[in-house]
Amino acid sequence: MKVADVRADIPFLDEVIYIDAASTTPTPQPVVDAMCEYYYHFNSNTGRGAYRTAIKATAEVRNTREKLAKFINSDPMEIIFTKNTTEAINLVGHGFKFEKGDSIIVPNIEHHSNLLPWLNLQKKGINVNIIKSDEYGRVNPADIEDTIDETTKLVTVTHVSNSIGSLLPVEEIGKIVKENNSYYMVDAAQSIGHMSLDVKKIKADFVASPGHKGLLGPVGTGFLYCNQEIIEDLEPINLGGGTVLDVTEDDFKLSKVPGRFEGGTQNISGIIGLGGAVDYLNRIGMEKIEEHGKKLTKFMYNEIKEIENSIVYGHPEAIYDMVGFNISGVNCHDVAKILDEQKNICVRSGMHCAIPAIRQIGAYDLGGTVRASIHYYNTKEEIQTLIDTLEEISRYLGN
Ligand code: ALA
Repeated sequence: MKVADVRADIPFLDEVIYIDAASTTPTPQPVVDAMCEYYYHFNSNTGRGAYRTAIKATAEVRNTREKLAKFINSDPMEIIFTKNTTEAINLVGHGFKFEKGDSIIVPNIEHHSNLLPWLNLQKKGINVNIIKSDEYGRVNPADIEDTIDETTKLVTVTHVSNSIGSLLPVEEIGKIVKENNSYYMVDAAQSIGHMSLDVKKIKADFVASPGHKGLLGPVGTGFLYCNQEIIEDLEPINLGGGTVLDVTEDDFKLSKVPGRFEGGTQNISGIIGLGGAVDYLNRIGMEKIEEHGKKLTKFMYNEIKEIENSIVYGHPEAIYDMVGFNISGVNCHDVAKILDEQKNICVRSGMHCAIPAIRQIGAYDLGGTVRASIHYYNTKEEIQTLIDTLEEISRYLGN
């Protein structure tokens, strides 16, 4: 599928210039159709009813699990549905076997979702070792190697920083983690659907992922990949319907994985839509998505850097599908507001739920950054409009 074909499937893109893929992505028609099909023709709960529409809904949810597993080179039984990436990370934070004296290694450029669950564990006697990035937001694997020791239970890193766009060498880090017999988690919130992701290649034990960003799926969807060798060590944190095989008045027996983690009625239509989204990405082809993203990011970075009064963050060789910047003299929220009001351009501004990262790149006192983040549906013409408008903002308001 070409860019124009994808744009034809997303009517929203005729109304605005949407450059905020890192927040969420607009949903293509076939994904919406897959959800409507459920609502119109087999709107039933899963894993419960013996009637045919319930069996169909259950089968469709299973199909999504299988599609996602194939997409990241894992087994369907290693896919736990969640409502977003945050919930996936918190499942590890609350459900994994951390003990007093254990330590966790995490870089300082993380989204709060991959920082707060660990800082919270400090209250229970778990040590958190923060790895500082360089001024571009790049994380040096050698710093992880120098810090890891026999107390390290988990190393958890983002694949691509949500605020700076820095791409971390997750394969290299995975090798270090495994050589040191620790567990490894990757936050794929900004990488999945933007690039191929092979959980075995990067040696991850856990991968937390959204459905509604790079995968082009609906909001309210996400999942945790958990390596089957350790999935039994993870405790469910949401017990109830669907999580047990047997219950007495005194005790209960958990159901098999991954069902034991998916308590209560799931986001069935969303999960079915997510399956449609994986099919959709496969139809475009991940190679094409990667190639398009790299070209457009390079263009956007170089052109914004040329604008008078611009401050661009991140290293040109280490950012992926987004550029963070400021126009000196103009508050980042004002820049975003003007872009919207003048040209219908949607970008995110502020701290991006990653305050330590924003501090690290020196943008805290500026109130954060403006972030332009792309996906396959974005065009060079759209980025050119962004650049032209930024030039005007700089000319009239910058200093
Ligand atoms: N996590 C999303 C972002 O970075 C919402 O914008």
